[in-house]
Amino acid sequence: MIQWSDSLSVGIESIDEQHKELISIIQRIGDIVKTQSFDLTSISEIVAELDDYVRVHFSHEEELMQESDYPEKETHIKQHDALRDKLDTINVFDVDDYRKFINETLMFLIDWLSGHILKVDKRLGAYLQENGYN
Ligand SMILES: [Fe+2]
Repeated sequence: MIQWSDSLSVGIESIDEQHKELISIIQRIGDIVKTQSFDLTSISEIVAELDDYVRVHFSHEEELMQESDYPEKETHIKQHDALRDKLDTINVFDVDDYRKFINETLMFLIDWLSGHILKVDKRLGAYLQENGYN
């Protein structure tokens, strides 16, 4: 399971706080897997929460990129777009096997998010810090 640690910090407080919240949502998806409570209500609620929060968070990062004239803005936003597109295709009311769905979603998210934070967001964080953000 993914857990917050200082090694995930990108050095920008608002981004770190949002990453912590995202990790907490992912941990709650992990709890669903652990407790095997694969019911439509809990799954649709957590997926909706994740979907909302990912979009809020990406918008926040994209505003900072815009405002600071971040040179790698386009490639970074493309990565966000890929996840937004993936979220667009998810319809929990159209899933046959909740167990499989939630397991796969969880694995995918842990992978995507930890890779993205460690590589792409860290570069953004370093640039923002160089430009007087904290
Ligand atoms: Fe990002």
